[in-house]
Amino acid sequence: MDLNDKVIIVTGAAQGLGEASARSFAARGAKVVLADIRQDAIEAHAKLLRDEGLRAIALPMDVTSSASIEATVARTLKKWQRIDGLMHSAMSAEYINNNDRRITELDEAVWDRVIDLVLTGTYRVVKAVGNVMKDQGKGSIVLTATVDAVIAQAGIDAYSAAKGGVVSLTRSAAAGLSPEGVRLNAICPSFITTPDQAEFLEVPEKRKVFDDMHLMDISTPEDIADYAAFLLSDQARIVTGAIHMVDSGYTCFKGKLALREGIYTN
Ligand SMILES: NC(=O)c1ccc[n+]([C@@H]2O[C@H](COP(=O)([O-])OP(=O)(O)OC[C@H]3O[C@@H](n4cnc5c(N)ncnc54)[C@H](O)[C@@H]3O)[C@@H](O)[C@H]2O)c1
Repeated sequence: MDLNDKVIIVTGAAQGLGEASARSFAARGAKVVLADIRQDAIEAHAKLLRDEGLRAIALPMDVTSSASIEATVARTLKKWQRIDGLMHSAMSAEYINNNDRRITELDEAVWDRVIDLVLTGTYRVVKAVGNVMKDQGKGSIVLTATVDAVIAQAGIDAYSAAKGGVVSLTRSAAAGLSPEGVRLNAICPSFITTPDQAEFLEVPEKRKVFDDMHLMDISTPEDIADYAAFLLSDQARIVTGAIHMVDSGYTCFKGKLALREGIYTN
């Protein structure tokens, strides 16, 4: 997938899907802005990419602050004059894993924080970048939702609600921005082997449960980044407003029930 000379901002680029996406896009010829609250980490990643002859800079960004996002957008424009793509991956898997609950035990403060980080954070970033793309008459935005936005998992009610909002926003914002040539898509991964998820997969009994929930391999961050690269490329010029289940088949089947002998066993 050719991303030659496209200027792409990647939020959450310090680790996980964001880090893998920044590397993938830079390797495909893009000029990449690694944005995150963890400045040391993004600077180290950007330097590594530059040392390999790729084009990357690190700019701090806190998606809970419109001023911080506007500052990153302004510095990107100063450096590279345009913004062709946005991969919005920022989130805190660690915070969700430790604090989210089913609704009856869910603290209002946790609910507020997750909605602010995940849903309002998406609103803030898309608004700032979308305004630039609108003026350019072209741009592609990839949002990260999750299978949990469309199929239930007990115990993560704030996260599910926030990502459900991201799914709906993808459709309405895609419709709203289409006259100016701006595309928006959302990717719904299932499990990705990112640092905060990988620990579940290291326990063999848990690994078996997770394997049984997928038809194909559990995805790596690079698998999802490859798909996002397509959505950011000009080859995807007619793809917008879509919710992409990039989930190893997680949402398409009921379970590995062998109704006939031989199925799932060889
Ligand atoms: N990992 C999975 O299994 C999985 C599954 C489905 C969907 N997703 C989605 O993919 C995206 C990436 O997930 P991940 O596992 O790589 O997450 P992660 O927690 O590993 O990394 C997220 C990054 O976002 C950064 N971040 C946190 N708060 C921020 C803020 N306020 N401003 C800017 N950056 C901030 C963190 O520093 C970190 O570098 C998320 O949107 C997540 O919901 C992940």
